[in-house]
Amino acid sequence: MLFSAVLLLCSLHNVDAQRKDADLMSFVTLPEVRALKWEVDYLDRERVAPGYWFVAPYGQISPDDPTQKYQQYQVGPYIYDGDGKLVWAGSLQYNNENVFDFRPVTNIDDEVELSFILNWQLEEEGGSKGSGVVLDKNYKQIRQVFQPADLHDFNMHEFNILPGGKSAVACTYLSQLVNLAQFGRPTEESWVVTGGFVELDMETSEVLSQWNSKDAIALTESNMFHSWDAPWDKPGWDYVHINAVDKNEAGDFIISLRFTNTIYGISGETGEIMWRLTSGPTGDFDIDFTFSKQHDVKFVSSNGTHHVISMLNNGSDERGNDENVSSVLFIEMDTVAMTARVINRINRPDSSLTRLRGSAETLPNGNIFAGWSERGYQSEHAPNGDTLMTARFASTRYSTYRAYKSEFIGRPTNPPDVVASVYGTNDDDTTTIIHVSWNGATDVAGWNFYAKAYDRGESVLIGHARKSDFETMYIVDGYMDWITAEAVDAEGKSMSKSRVQRSEIPSNWESVGFKGTAAGPSPDDPSIINQVKEGTGKEDTSEKASADKEVVADKEKETSADEADSPMDMDMGSDSDSDSDSAPHQSYADAKEVAKAVYRAYEVIRAVGGMLIFILLGCSIGGILFGSWRLIQKRRRRSYHHVPSEEGLPVEEIHLRSQTHD
Ligand SMILES: *[C@@H]1O[C@H](CO)[C@@H](O)[C@H](O)[C@H]1NC(C)=O
Ligand SMILES: *[C@@H]1O[C@H](CO)[C@@H](O)[C@H](O)[C@H]1NC(C)=O
Ligand SMILES: *[C@@H]1O[C@H](CO)[C@@H](O)[C@H](O)[C@H]1NC(C)=O
Repeated sequence: MLFSAVLLLCSLHNVDAQRKDADLMSFVTLPEVRALKWEVDYLDRERVAPGYWFVAPYGQISPDDPTQKYQQYQVGPYIYDGDGKLVWAGSLQYNNENVFDFRPVTNIDDEVELSFILNWQLEEEGGSKGSGVVLDKNYKQIRQVFQPADLHDFNMHEFNILPGGKSAVACTYLSQLVNLAQFGRPTEESWVVTGGFVELDMETSEVLSQWNSKDAIALTESNMFHSWDAPWDKPGWDYVHINAVDKNEAGDFIISLRFTNTIYGISGETGEIMWRLTSGPTGDFDIDFTFSKQHDVKFVSSNGTHHVISMLNNGSDERGNDENVSSVLFIEMDTVAMTARVINRINRPDSSLTRLRGSAETLPNGNIFAGWSERGYQSEHAPNGDTLMTARFASTRYSTYRAYKSEFIGRPTNPPDVVASVYGTNDDDTTTIIHVSWNGATDVAGWNFYAKAYDRGESVLIGHARKSDFETMYIVDGYMDWITAEAVDAEGKSMSKSRVQRSEIPSNWESVGFKGTAAGPSPDDPSIINQVKEGTGKEDTSEKASADKEVVADKEKETSADEADSPMDMDMGSDSDSDSDSAPHQSYADAKEVAKAVYRAYEVIRAVGGMLIFILLGCSIGGILFGSWRLIQKRRRRSYHHVPSEEGLPVEEIHLRSQTHD
């Protein structure tokens, strides 16, 4: 009964919040994290590849103006499991900054690392130009690479670590002054944003190779800048818009330029364009398909002359190659016979068009994982194209540039976070509610909970809960204090333990309707509670043993059956009968009395013998409490804000717009 009251209270507390942001998760243990919820739909779960989802939600591409900076931790690198349950919120570690191209890295060594592009910052926020970052499975930053100094920022499109992890390729955007002779206007000049790429050394950020479109790709190849257009000031026309780069074992590069609707092969040796793959008349290949405004172009396999490439084709209606649905295309290219054939096409499951961004990934079992970007829409397909799963953010306010899937082991170095609170109406009617989570940990099967009777007492196991979501709630009868939670794996082996956490109590017991001792209840001795609990458990699982009844027979009449509150595991559901005999509760009440006596005795001893320690302890706890209070106040002030979406704007050009301020 008390539980229902408490739960009701909790839910009432949340009602207001839910109205405004029901599309976000919230956690007792990580109040600053409001991860995006998913809507997940499995069509055939049997054939889905194992693994987690890696996404980097953002509301807008440019960093927010600090004065109107939203304070919610929804943006940044996030890992979810296949049910859309949160595994890791990386926003805490990266101060809620935008990151792009967050992905599992499987080609450095035997483990799966994480990489992403940390967005550039406003001057007020530190003025960083952004960087490419690699984290290990402990979420420790093991690499950070930077682009050459003459660039505005680390471009958001691609941070592609090459096999072995020694180098990575990334896109570059550079403002350059260009003569308009190509347009028959040799006396005029215009600023143009040229597109290119760099290969960077992962240790030193040294530029190993570099390519730029300025002298290689004519202005006339662009479908965004025309011969009649007026010259532009800095930053200038974004005339090619590079959005992907990859390198094959032969040392050649493949790039995707969205504003020429063309994919280029670039010689690693000479930097020359070896071939152009395009739907239009300028292409070098005999092709049996159309594509345009392509994204995430990369090698699936390549032996130097014959390639399989994948891309996300959003299907533009320009140049007459009209398509009604975006698709993932797998293309087999023969650069000797100069043919290109579609070997697999996967249409967007909801038959819509992906207006911007997107990704396609081939999984180890041959499945295809596609990111359609807007609202985080993503899908997994069998090799034959069958749609196995679709998912999207519940929120309409966020997108993710790309989406990836991979198996992953996450072992954060931070301990699990625990919050415990005590509720009650009387001295022998108290309940402790424990919440625990471990941000970034995979493979946690369950939680052991421990409590102590006093600060230097012994930790006593008070219960176990199966982990079934990011945060686990556990409810235990009595006033439990000095709580620790221990993560255990499927074999029951300890993975990590939280710090010892004092239980939160009302600042004024009377004002919350507590009818017992004016000073409020004191912590129970968990070892005594535990013994009784074990007794209760035994009785619940065996048929009601007459022996048990005998033991407590003489006490039965004094007992009120209404107080039948048993320790309860919220994840597994209660496995103790609420209609069980009142007997154990009587002995439980007795035990509590004993525990209280012990606790009071301890208090007296401590008061007399350790006054000084007590005062010091009191001061430090006070300090901690004050600190946490300040923290809570601070957190409270960062309440939910609406993140403006930029639907009306060509989002990929936002960072260029912001360059005009330079
Ligand atoms: C690449 O693969 C194609 C087709 O499998 C083959 O015909 C060709 O000889 C290979 N080229 C090299 C350089 O291995
Ligand atoms: C494909 O994407 C481009 C660039 O975002 C956009 O201009 C074009 O309209 C899209 N195609 C369709 C058919 O929506
Ligand atoms: C696109 O849809 C229109 C109208 O439904 C249809 O007439 C046309 O054939 C479709 N085009 C393609 C390429 O499927």
